[in-house]
Amino acid sequence: MTTSRDSTDLPLGIVVVGASGDLAQRKIIPALFALYCQGLLPQEFHVFGIARTRMTAEGFRELIARNLTCRYAPGESCAAKTAAFLERCHYASGSYGESGTFLDLFELMRGIEGRGPVNRLYYMAIPPTVFEEVAKALGDSGLVACGSKREWSRIVVEKPFGRDRASSDRLVAEMHKVFTEETTYRIDHYLGKEIVQNLIVLRFANLIFEPVWSREHIESVSLTWKEPIGVGMRGGYFDQFGIIRDVMQNHLLQILALLAMERPRRFDAHAVRDEKVRLLRCVEPPTLDRIVVGQYGASESGTQPAYTAEPTVPPTSLTPTYAATVLRINNDRWRGVPFFMEAGKALEQKVNEVKIRFRPVPANIFDASMGGVAANELTIRIQPDEAIELRIMNKVPGLNMVLQPMPLNLRYQTAFNVGIPDAYECLLLDVIKGDRSLFIRADELAAAWDIFTPVLAALEEQSVRPAIYPFGSPVNATGTFPASG
Ligand code: NDP
Ligand code: BG6
Repeated sequence: MTTSRDSTDLPLGIVVVGASGDLAQRKIIPALFALYCQGLLPQEFHVFGIARTRMTAEGFRELIARNLTCRYAPGESCAAKTAAFLERCHYASGSYGESGTFLDLFELMRGIEGRGPVNRLYYMAIPPTVFEEVAKALGDSGLVACGSKREWSRIVVEKPFGRDRASSDRLVAEMHKVFTEETTYRIDHYLGKEIVQNLIVLRFANLIFEPVWSREHIESVSLTWKEPIGVGMRGGYFDQFGIIRDVMQNHLLQILALLAMERPRRFDAHAVRDEKVRLLRCVEPPTLDRIVVGQYGASESGTQPAYTAEPTVPPTSLTPTYAATVLRINNDRWRGVPFFMEAGKALEQKVNEVKIRFRPVPANIFDASMGGVAANELTIRIQPDEAIELRIMNKVPGLNMVLQPMPLNLRYQTAFNVGIPDAYECLLLDVIKGDRSLFIRADELAAAWDIFTPVLAALEEQSVRPAIYPFGSPVNATGTFPASG
């Protein structure tokens, strides 16, 4: 929601910290370009990249240009839009912990923007281990506008935020010394994905789902996240965190919260997040016997490396690249329903979906000879090929009574004649507008860490050795889910 103090008419200075990195180059700057092409950035804006890598502004622009696509500026307008955007991109290098780095940046910004009021958006596209020192250096260099001024300063912080509940709380407290909760945007880019945003609409703007959305009618729910790539050059980051912190504690728990929460009082940032927190607090933390962990080995063909042979991973690493668990939600709506959660890298395919399996029809009137009656199943496919699919039982056309499960299928690609925006476009626009509904509040973060902190500690204290699965394995790489009872 946009507050009355928002001044979107002011010039905007976007500072991307870690601008040499993967996220900045592949996602953040291309998303800013997409917003620019659609006329969604303020008239006057500049992008300031900062990182330790030494590079000229020209070098920085060349790096950026490699990843810009002209989805929103087709044909002849593309070259002109690209050139105009690149002209507004600037670069400074320096060490993150030193206020001198940011004082130099301030001088560069002043030289380009002048001395009038400017809104500032700081994007922390850096490993979580450096968040705190950057926030402190920004504060020390006087780059953060405070309270009473007309202009705002907002900070976008990437996940994972901390390594467990205690370190996350510490980080929240330290960052609050510079940025208030209201000016902190903790991003989980899955909340910007179309289908994830649609969950709340599907549940609360349709009459037919809510009455069956509970233990009485739902037998189990599964949340699956798989990607076919390994960690590549991101091993330095990934090895310190692992798949549970990289994907389960944030992306999958956010999806779970939206799927299972109670109806919010209204559709606004506070009410929705209140319900998500309430739900997360009812999730029972899984114990060690309720989780399986795996790590990818070399592919069977030998063409893909084992995790421990990746260039930036220690050869003796026990970090899981795969995990599967069963979560229980202790409230009246969900008691007894298993929520299977699975996440893995270097698997056979990219898929991220939710399957809601309904209970069997209680009094089946059809003979087995007619084909049998399968339970209904609702699949919500987040990516790729976004879709909502309900499996129903149907009579096969013909003179005999033959039953067959068939899909009622809403495939986004065919149903909507529009491109699906990248999640970062949607989220960056929200930051500029001051809408925090799709960002993680501090109490939500704490509730999410409470779920996984005990099992993460147990895995690490007991040096649990992950099962090895070949790079490119099919589903359920490490075998079966832990007992669901
Ligand atoms: P990178 O490893 O590419 O790091 C970004 C930049 O930070 C690097 O270019 C480097 O710049 C600097 N850096 C790297 N390691 C260190 C270090 N140990 N100390 C100080 N600076 C360092 O990370 P990503 O861009 O992949 O990710 C950045 C953040 O975004 C992380 O929090 C990650 O979890 C999150 N994220 C990333 C996604 C992705 O797809 N990449 C998706 C979702 C979230 P230089 O050396 O020039 O200073
Ligand atoms: C990031 C994780 O949050 O999400 C990565 O850090 C993962 O490990 C990425 O590859 C996947 O994002 P997407 O949008 O491609 O599903």
